[in-house]
Amino acid sequence: MENKRRFYITTPIYYPSDKLHIGHTYCTVATDAIARYHRLKGEEVMFLTGTDEHGQKIEDKAREAGVTPQQYVDSIVTAPRGVLDLWKLMNISNDRFIRTTDDYHVKSIQYIFRKMYDNGDIYKGTYKGKYCKPCESFWTESQLKDGCCPDCGRPVTDAEEEAYFFRLSKYADKIQHLLEDTDFLEPRSRVNEMVNNFIKPGLEDLCVSRTSFTWGIPVDFDPKHVVYVWVDALSNYITALGYGNDKYDDYDKGWWPGVNIVGKEIVRFHSIIWPAMLMSLGEPLPKKVFGHGWLLLDGGKMSKSKGNVVDPYLLAEMFGVDALRFFLLRTFPFGSDGNFSNEALIQTINVDLANDLGNLLSRTVSMVGKYFGGQLPEGSGATEAERALAAAVAGDEAADGALHGEGCQFDGELIGLTAGLRNRYEDAMEHYAPHNALAEIFKVIDRANKYIDENAPWVLAKDMEANGSRLAHVMYNLLESLRVCAILLTPFIPQSAAEVLRQIGACEACSTWDSAGTWGSLPGTVTVRRGDNLFPRIDVDKALKELEEAAAAAKKAALPELEIEPQLEEKVDFDTFCKSDFRAVKVKDCQPVKKSEKLLKFTLDDGTGVDRQILSGIARWYKPEELIGKTLMAIVNLPPRKMMGQESNGMLISAVHTEKGEECLNLLILDDKIPAGAKMC
Ligand code: MSP
Repeated sequence: MENKRRFYITTPIYYPSDKLHIGHTYCTVATDAIARYHRLKGEEVMFLTGTDEHGQKIEDKAREAGVTPQQYVDSIVTAPRGVLDLWKLMNISNDRFIRTTDDYHVKSIQYIFRKMYDNGDIYKGTYKGKYCKPCESFWTESQLKDGCCPDCGRPVTDAEEEAYFFRLSKYADKIQHLLEDTDFLEPRSRVNEMVNNFIKPGLEDLCVSRTSFTWGIPVDFDPKHVVYVWVDALSNYITALGYGNDKYDDYDKGWWPGVNIVGKEIVRFHSIIWPAMLMSLGEPLPKKVFGHGWLLLDGGKMSKSKGNVVDPYLLAEMFGVDALRFFLLRTFPFGSDGNFSNEALIQTINVDLANDLGNLLSRTVSMVGKYFGGQLPEGSGATEAERALAAAVAGDEAADGALHGEGCQFDGELIGLTAGLRNRYEDAMEHYAPHNALAEIFKVIDRANKYIDENAPWVLAKDMEANGSRLAHVMYNLLESLRVCAILLTPFIPQSAAEVLRQIGACEACSTWDSAGTWGSLPGTVTVRRGDNLFPRIDVDKALKELEEAAAAAKKAALPELEIEPQLEEKVDFDTFCKSDFRAVKVKDCQPVKKSEKLLKFTLDDGTGVDRQILSGIARWYKPEELIGKTLMAIVNLPPRKMMGQESNGMLISAVHTEKGEECLNLLILDDKIPAGAKMC
């Protein structure tokens, strides 16, 4: 069997602490298109993505939510509309998905940590930082806000913590050589940034363990330490192949080294720490690290706290998955930052997809239907001269382009441009420039649309006896151009490209990479199949209005919880309000919930004779015993909800406000003479 080239490609694994937004989607969609391009070329591809699930931030968020960290990450990774669902929706073709909480990864990290400790590259030292006593958190100088704890705003003190360090400094010279003298890191502009900002000022050893939180992989020979962030996260690229574990055995099978595609803010970790770790382990370095730019919103970074994240679900559901994928890769040069806007998205869909590609397809297919009953007659296909011209162009020989006969100048231009497309496209893709690859495709699509106008098929059709064979050949040239474009569009818009190929009647053999480099692959007597309009035009004003409303709703949802909002809620109609069943309830029992710092479990008399259980996240403000016997107000017709494995049937009503930056909460305690079950209205 032929030995196929193996291509291993990875995209960063995501922190499930924030909502995935269009920036994350950009990074994964781009990597997906590159992976699909290599598959199209016939290479054997392994594409890895996953989630980076450890760390203090996750531990804190889980505590806030009253769940365990594992429950917290599970609920984001596997929950409906979570990480896995988003990648499925976006048609991401990853072959493997790693979670850093997977047992096999944990085992590998312990092996990797030990190996670097045994070879002397990890040593025990003291981590000096800033400490916030009330929050029990360590911070670095740069994490502080106005010199105070970024979480609670209170003053911090100098503190020390025992920690393990990785001898990053030892590898400084080798890394500098790797960056400056090889094409390990691209684009080149990122090399200077790394060398000047991080290596020349002196690389410090890296803190690789912590004892101040527990949500991480324990160091097996010193379990009060957990492995701290980058050793755990970066190693995923090799543990997912089976390095240090027996879950997979792909590491030595020609998959590693691979290509790591990453966003610009983590280039530093991937181009300095990652190769140093691999050098320490004695393993090969990645073939390449490519650092792409950011999608910006109004010139700035998207962030959940600013409430300006763009929701990929919303866009994909409104405009279609392929349209969104296409926009991301067509519009922004991959290595640079780009400004996201809804206007640009709609404009790209309307111009490139609806107008240029969509119209070319529908006009061509409907003309073949109208003039030839859907099937081109014998002899419509490529001539020998055209095949020779195309082969010369594809082979980079100086093609003379001189075709003789009526309309042939246009034929020569269209055929010449299309025949050289695969080479130009390949060149762009090999240089991680998907935007250039798409630009090349659209030059051909534009040329083909112009070719329709130049040949005016509707005029030729007026005298089929005289012009029928010319008209058929014009149609053939259009179908052939569409075929080559559709094949090369497959990595970007997989579903739509397949539909183009179906509509133009391209068989399997003429939908391959090889055939995209061979003009004339489509049989002369091809039969087209009409189908739906691939990319309907979008009504700009209507779509912008809908998006604006959705963004306003998202912004509102992003406001910090428990803070009184400056505006009152939107109005609800009276009937809707009346559906809420508020009742007086008497507290029969109240207990803390095991392993939760937030939740209290209430057993309540709601007047029905059957005890009602409600869980409430108010442990910060009340001791259970002080509430027993009290009369409270609850909404009792909410659907049941599980928290920490226990069911809660309703919600206790309290008043919340913020005072001097502190969240304050007061339960609504009613007069004891109100009987249990009394309805509030
Ligand atoms: N967990 C780390 C990566 C560990 S890799 C061993 C991480 N996660 S992340 O969720 O914060 O980011 C994941 C990827 O999304 C990164 O490549 C990051 O650059 C990318 N993006 C996040 N916001 C982005 C934009 N606004 N624009 C483009 N990419 C951005 O970092």
